[in-house]
Amino acid sequence: MPTPLSTLGIGAEAPVILMTGSSHWDPTRDEVAKLIIRWRYVSEVDALPTTGTWSRREFIQAAITFAAAIAFGRAAHAAPNARAPEPPSMTAPATVTLHVNGRDLPLQLEPRVTLLDALRNYAGLTGTKKGCDHGQCGACTVHVDGRRVLSCMTFAVMQQGHDITTIEGLANGDALHPVQQAFITHDGFQCGYCTSGQIMSAAAVIKEPWGSNDSDVREAMSGNICRCGAYPGIVSAVQSVRGNNSSSTPG
Ligand code: FES
Ligand code: FES
Repeated sequence: MPTPLSTLGIGAEAPVILMTGSSHWDPTRDEVAKLIIRWRYVSEVDALPTTGTWSRREFIQAAITFAAAIAFGRAAHAAPNARAPEPPSMTAPATVTLHVNGRDLPLQLEPRVTLLDALRNYAGLTGTKKGCDHGQCGACTVHVDGRRVLSCMTFAVMQQGHDITTIEGLANGDALHPVQQAFITHDGFQCGYCTSGQIMSAAAVIKEPWGSNDSDVREAMSGNICRCGAYPGIVSAVQSVRGNNSSSTPG
């Protein structure tokens, strides 16, 4: 084990750790005193006493030095050689198998990838749109086990083993889903950016226990924002699939 003086280096004005020769050093009072004397009288260290009554100044210097020594010990404990084994990486890509639109899709994903990004950027299913990416606009709505879910707010890795449906999987072959057809018939969109989310939400709403009025549809669809303001057509389309008359008139 190195001696304290070879373990800890000292600067002119404040203790500065220069060497880390040992991970454990528990200095005695005399060792700290030697260190301080060495700090203050580098050229005279051998001539000076190492024990005796300390002045106030020496006491303060001892406290500073001792704190540095403790910090040094902790730093040495945290050195790579002394560290516990690294836990498994939280960012390394792993194979995540998503069951999307009736097919298994094995994807290499980092655990932090959202379902939205997995669908769009890794599976090439760009029908699902990214609007806010913060759970506020509904553009990213998909179905997970038949329930509408904001895909920007869930990690892809959490949806393994679940049945995911996107706008690309809603139609039955060449036959559009009734909600898709209703959006066309009732002019339920303008630019179309929100539309896949609106349709996925509406396709779930028609199975949910909402009231029969337009206001119920507006409430049920309130998580889906349309910047074009195509709401009258959207309400009318949803009501038509539910078998209700709507007083909403597309503009
Ligand atoms: S993109 Fe998911 S809620 Fe807006
Ligand atoms: S149709 Fe343009 S945002 Fe809804």
